[in-house]
Amino acid sequence: MTNDDVTTDNLHIFSSSDDVLSRAAAALAEGKLVAFPTETVYGLGANACDDRAVAAIFAAKNRPRFNPLIAHVADLISAEVLVTFNERARILARAFWPGPLTMVLPRTAESPLSFLTSAGLSTAAVRIPDHPVALALLRAVGMPLAAPSANPSGAVSPTTAQHVADMLGDRVAMILDGGACRVGVESTVIDLSGSQPVLLRPGGVSRSELESMIGPIGSHNSQENVAVMAPGMLSSHYAPRLAVRLNATSFIPGEAVLGFGSEAGAHLNLSPAGDVTEAAANLFAMLRALDRPEFTRIAVMPVPETGLGEAINDRLRRAAAPRPARCCRQEKT
Ligand code: TXA
Ligand code: MG
Repeated sequence: MTNDDVTTDNLHIFSSSDDVLSRAAAALAEGKLVAFPTETVYGLGANACDDRAVAAIFAAKNRPRFNPLIAHVADLISAEVLVTFNERARILARAFWPGPLTMVLPRTAESPLSFLTSAGLSTAAVRIPDHPVALALLRAVGMPLAAPSANPSGAVSPTTAQHVADMLGDRVAMILDGGACRVGVESTVIDLSGSQPVLLRPGGVSRSELESMIGPIGSHNSQENVAVMAPGMLSSHYAPRLAVRLNATSFIPGEAVLGFGSEAGAHLNLSPAGDVTEAAANLFAMLRALDRPEFTRIAVMPVPETGLGEAINDRLRRAAAPRPARCCRQEKT
């Protein structure tokens, strides 16, 4: 590192240069976190195909829930590897990418995205950010980056590198400085995976701009498939087809056992070492792997509430809850 790399007194902040970008790409390839500027807000980036790296995002943000993340890519060809485009999506991509628009589309059959990136859903969110540093980083790393706003869960989104350093400086390998964010609010999220487009989150591209291209867009709340969040009723993004039994301490014949910790006998184990970050990385892929007709139910051994355990248990309670409907409730992340 040279003194030129340091734009403020914070040693994690780097101005973009070829050398800095290749070091950032190398850190990402190793599964580390790199914060980078976009036109909306600064993102906390990780390799979106690496379960452990994505788990590290949730750990750094201290997120109590596994919300699905946006996969950022440099170009349309890269996006098409991850999700299946339809006509509306192509129109919006042509009109607004690169830019503050995120599209939710079905994952491709061979999508390399971690299921933690898409929170176990069969859809995934993608966007091409309109910022030269973000685009240069995406090209240097050559893989999609999962990136929520680079703030601890519940805090205000960062629009300068220094904001990131103040909030998460000790949690990231590097912070790339790209100046203050031009848009300053998160991207608009539109779900194009169903028969009707649905606005999931207002943001940098307005509803009327979108409607001028593809016609009327439904609102998230008007969707009949959104479960009402009544007290005591937990609803779910995605649940396995099989019922889920929580805190299993004994094994019942016919059940698929998802273990945690050193006890033997599980069909799959979230983390034999008892590491909750490793368990988070494995959670969705293992639930899917056990969701097979030869089993009667999935029994999950107890997972401690520490660290990402809170998010794991939240997700597991949702998977085990009664299932009135699919739900993709939005919340501040
Ligand atoms: O401007 C932005 O979008 C910033 C910058 C860094 O790009 N990123 C950002 O990411 O705001 P995040 O993770 O905070 O927000 C992602 C949003 C959430 O509201 C999430 O629920 C929604 O996208 N989302 C992602 N995948 C989804 C899916 N498969 N279905 C429904 N909603 C999804
Ligand atoms: Mg956020």
